[in-house]
Amino acid sequence: MHFSESTAMERDDVQTERATEDSTPGTGEFLREVLDGLSHSHRAIPCRFLYDAAGSAIFDRICDLPEYYPTRTERRILETNAHAIAAATSEEFRFVELGAGSGGKAEILLDAMQQARAYVCIDISPVPLASAAAAVRARYPGLAVSAVCGNYLGELDLPPRKGLRDLCFFPGSTIGNFERDDALVFLREWRNRLGPDGMMLIGVDLKKDVAVLEAAYDDRQGVTAAFSLNLLHRANRELGADFDTDAFRHRARYVSDPGHVEISLVSQTEQVVAIAGQTFRFAKGEAIHVENSHKYAIDEFAALAGKAGFDSVDVWTDDDALFSVHLLRVAG
Ligand SMILES: C[S@@+](CC[C@H](N)C(=O)[O-])C[C@H]1O[C@@H](n2cnc3c(N)ncnc32)[C@H](O)[C@@H]1O
Repeated sequence: MHFSESTAMERDDVQTERATEDSTPGTGEFLREVLDGLSHSHRAIPCRFLYDAAGSAIFDRICDLPEYYPTRTERRILETNAHAIAAATSEEFRFVELGAGSGGKAEILLDAMQQARAYVCIDISPVPLASAAAAVRARYPGLAVSAVCGNYLGELDLPPRKGLRDLCFFPGSTIGNFERDDALVFLREWRNRLGPDGMMLIGVDLKKDVAVLEAAYDDRQGVTAAFSLNLLHRANRELGADFDTDAFRHRARYVSDPGHVEISLVSQTEQVVAIAGQTFRFAKGEAIHVENSHKYAIDEFAALAGKAGFDSVDVWTDDDALFSVHLLRVAG
């Protein structure tokens, strides 16, 4: 696991937790993925590398942007329906939050859920992970809290379940960062990890007006642009790359089939970038793909979850149908 000097305080916090050090991408994995991703004709860097300490801090600023409706809308849905969600998940459980970040959404639910006996938060980024665990521990002193720093796509060293069933919470429409086929694989994988009596509560962003979608990922203050460009700054910091970050521009555009915002960094000029002894030539207008954010219709997501082996228990949305929260149960 790689920790930068600036995260020393958080490092201590996380080390008192269960940290799965092998599964967190460090410099070696980042270097491999960057070199590989830039070697293909369709250049791309996996979006999980957006979340180093700097990226996670920028993401927190994105959540407060006027254009970025998903965070406040999901929070409102959870606040309005917390008791209904708690009622639909009646038995005792362990509450497992994936990609917890520092969103504070778990507390909205835990306030209403008397049945939660343990809380496990999982994130690839140690700083927000530590703050999520600390916030829950402070608010619910009787709850067993564990933080697992790792990649939810890989092996995770989770604490023993102790006979509890799992309620897995995956907020933020982070599922949208998967290609649709990969989302199916991910849901199947977590269905198997949850076991026969597991449940999943998952935030899913909905299809809507293209201008609203594109503004959410390309705001007027340039915070979403700074989030993408941090990937190149990170490569310069950690890999000694020589990206001229002023010579790449953030681009967010909606692709209607199947329905996703595609985020790329576009070279503004012909240029050559050196990374670890290799050079990469960019033509003017050539893009590095950094992230997709897939959008679903409610039925479309329920069908995907069904294919992955979940029954849909309920779904909640806001008055403007911007965002949805699906409660799924492992199908019998
Ligand atoms: C879109 S943010 C959502 C944050 C928060 N849950 C919310 O709803 O505001 C995605 C979160 O997932 C984490 N993440 C991204 N890829 C991950 C991976 N492969 N494994 C574990 N965590 C990951 C990021 O560090 C970040 O905290």
